[in-house]
Amino acid sequence: MALDHALLRNEYAARFAGTPRLFRAPGRVNLIGEHTDYNDGFVLPCAIDREVVFAVTPRADRVVRLAALDFDPATVVEFDLDDAGFVQSQHHWSNYVKGMVSVLEANGFGCSGFEGIIAGDVPIGGGVSSSSAFTAAVATTLEVLNGLTVDPKRMVELILDAENAATGLRGGIMDQYTARMGKAGSALLIDCRIKEHEIVSLPEMTIVVADTRRARTLAATAYNERRAQCELASRLIATRYPGVTALRDVTNAMLDDCRDLLSRDVYRRARHVVTETERTHASVELLAKGDLERFGRLVTQSHQSLRDDYEVSCEELDALCEIAWTVPGVYGARMVGAGFGGCIIAVCEAGAVAPLTSALMREYARRCGREADVYATVPSDGAGEIL
Ligand code: GLA
Repeated sequence: MALDHALLRNEYAARFAGTPRLFRAPGRVNLIGEHTDYNDGFVLPCAIDREVVFAVTPRADRVVRLAALDFDPATVVEFDLDDAGFVQSQHHWSNYVKGMVSVLEANGFGCSGFEGIIAGDVPIGGGVSSSSAFTAAVATTLEVLNGLTVDPKRMVELILDAENAATGLRGGIMDQYTARMGKAGSALLIDCRIKEHEIVSLPEMTIVVADTRRARTLAATAYNERRAQCELASRLIATRYPGVTALRDVTNAMLDDCRDLLSRDVYRRARHVVTETERTHASVELLAKGDLERFGRLVTQSHQSLRDDYEVSCEELDALCEIAWTVPGVYGARMVGAGFGGCIIAVCEAGAVAPLTSALMREYARRCGREADVYATVPSDGAGEIL
């Protein structure tokens, strides 16, 4: 159910003049390496075949005129780049556009206005980083229309700054990096300290996403709190091991040695990060060997660690994983992203998709009284112009 780009061009023509250029950026899933990016650690995400697309033409002045087809198709929102204050209603889509323009301009990358439409098929608030897809699509649009030359790593950081300003989350770089750099058929092993990646080509397997459809009201607060606990753990461990600047530098043995320095909660948060880093490296080796059984076990252990040590799961995420774990042909399943709602992924054989989907739909409704949104996804390319 890819987005119909021809239809988008028609929707553009119904509202604006000229021939638009189309720019896209995808959502993401993360195979493993959760809550490690802001600890300078490693993550293993894929961009997915769900995207946000801007169909736009440039303007010579500083005016932006946009209609967001998935929110309010009848309204063209208009603002001036010199008056880029955020709309107070939380998370209004125009804030991401304003945030991206002001971060670029604050860093010396001047922008002109543009007009057109935005549409997408990344489930909004569905745990696959619709906001990064959106912000990365804005960044790509501005970059090309204004002929900006921005170092790719720098651009990822600027997108992160813009998004953090719009959401209040002190997020890491995983989502923005993946939206920009994703590669079809592959995952990216991102070293979040040096902000570089290796392409990890994936063996024959299917990734199924199941969205809890639970609203995530407290996620930003809890996320920032977890991040502060990790920073505290790293500072305390550094009093004994001066080389440590982030939990990425801590081994299991060092953590054990420092247990007396940490409160019970802070110790468990750190243990998640340390063990998740090990699982991520082991996963890359297992994927290279095509050992999906053992990779799947690590995926499942990642969920258990996020549930028990990091405490960012919730009843709905646990239910979806527990259901997926029982289906033959499923290698493993885990929550993805910040937690407290959002989605899980299950990694499975192609033949397991149909029974998995029906088990998730049926059992989740029975256990949690809501309907899950379940779909298979394909690792895809990062942001760019649609030609
Ligand atoms: C959110 C953040 C990411 C990352 C994940 C957890 O998606 O935006 O930077 O920290 O949570 O791994």
